[in-house]
Amino acid sequence: MYQCITCQNELNNTSVDSFICSNCRNNYPILEGIALFIPEATTSLQGYITEMEEAKAGLTEMVGTLNNLQKQFGASEFSSRIKNTLKAVQTNLNVLQEPYLPIIEFLQKQPTNDNFLAWSIVKTGTTFLDMLPYFYQDWSGTSDFEKVKNRVCKTITENTVNRESVAVLGAGACGLLHSVADFFEISYGVDLSLPTLLAAKSFIRGKPLTFNLSDADWEKITLTPPKQSTKNIHYLATNVNNMPFKNGSLTLVITQYMLDIVSNPIGLAQEIRRVLKPEGLWINFSKPFRVAGDPSILGMRKMDELPPLFNSLGFEVINLENERFNYLNLEKVSNEVDTVNQLVNFFTLRKRKSYERNDILKEVNRFFDPNCNNVWNETPRIVVDRKLIFSQQKSFDGTSSVNESLSISVMGHTFSIPPDFAFLLETIFSAIDGERNLRAIYLIQKDVIGLDENSFLLLIYILNVLHYLIELD
Ligand SMILES: C[S@@+](CC[C@H](N)C(=O)[O-])C[C@H]1O[C@@H](n2cnc3c(N)ncnc32)[C@H](O)[C@@H]1O
Repeated sequence: MYQCITCQNELNNTSVDSFICSNCRNNYPILEGIALFIPEATTSLQGYITEMEEAKAGLTEMVGTLNNLQKQFGASEFSSRIKNTLKAVQTNLNVLQEPYLPIIEFLQKQPTNDNFLAWSIVKTGTTFLDMLPYFYQDWSGTSDFEKVKNRVCKTITENTVNRESVAVLGAGACGLLHSVADFFEISYGVDLSLPTLLAAKSFIRGKPLTFNLSDADWEKITLTPPKQSTKNIHYLATNVNNMPFKNGSLTLVITQYMLDIVSNPIGLAQEIRRVLKPEGLWINFSKPFRVAGDPSILGMRKMDELPPLFNSLGFEVINLENERFNYLNLEKVSNEVDTVNQLVNFFTLRKRKSYERNDILKEVNRFFDPNCNNVWNETPRIVVDRKLIFSQQKSFDGTSSVNESLSISVMGHTFSIPPDFAFLLETIFSAIDGERNLRAIYLIQKDVIGLDENSFLLLIYILNVLHYLIELD
């Protein structure tokens, strides 16, 4: 059913706990029925725990601040808001932890070595906590979601004859996945955030979800699961840039708010083309995007600049239009919130039969074979417009202690970053000069950091395929 993401050989599913590669023996664990297809999957699970601890620390700090405010403001015009916010943040602390529990349990049963690349393998920029407004959007009957759903379902009815399989990439709260699943024999919800998929699956299976929405004055939301949960849905946690689907295996791929957030839209389009059947369809609904190398002064691609791009990537445009979407519209929850009305590209593409270039598989394989000499001769370059900016923040709280934190920014997005990983990136990036090949850079880092060949190539895979910070010649 699936292939290994590192060597592309058949995966055996001999137990309910994991898939194992028949060739390289890679093991992909299955948690609560959700398979995790990422490199070093078992140890990379720690990355989700790091993410949870960070979010938990943020909420815990808020609880401390609100407790202090309660004392400070006593009975005042703020007191009821402080009290309600405190209660809401405490609720969210519990909500946050729930989908991580199966991961914690798994790691307790199967202790793993430290993997300091884990964080960067599972990083999407969206934690489960950030996904709560999407759960509200998809599952509370908002008219905005209904509009997208109807639009996508109409496109499916009008354009697909074959209804074998659909994959929704970056499925998030899985509302759209659930809506289209009726049309297909088998559906796949794909997202790198395993906790989000665990939460969505448990909800769809019948467990109500209650949380507070920070962006809507911390109002309480209770979502009722859909009545019909029997559809043939499979959930898989994987990076959309390197999925475990076999070549030419899917009838339809849907992306909603995904093409605009991936670091390499061309790479994603190539991966979608690879997994689609001949003449398979790709439906997209997302903000306008730009590709590396586009003149940055021109901003995002305009609609008439998309067909040449899609044609060159082996797709024929069936339909392409601009629409408007009220993004994460929380108006009905609180009347003191802002709304964002966005321009979105809605398009339907068909995989052209006549285009046979498909070199992505060869590319991915080589990062997992240190004996492959060619890979060591490749020269990395930093992708234009995707420069990393490292920052160190210091803050003083008046008690003579200093709080220090590290962050990186890329294209305006800022993330906090573990210090060991920041140091690793600094070492690698300062060695990239457009002349040194991977072997030379490997030797430079070996003296400073000491990564072995396998870990170094894994890091290059992360930087090139997953985050597209470097290109290779
Ligand atoms: C902006 S949210 C959109 C969610 C959903 N498509 C929607 O529109 O409601 C993006 C989703 O994509 C997932 N994601 C981001 N980067 C990803 C990647 N490289 N591979 C797989 N999933 C990714 C995030 O975890 C998140 O669930």
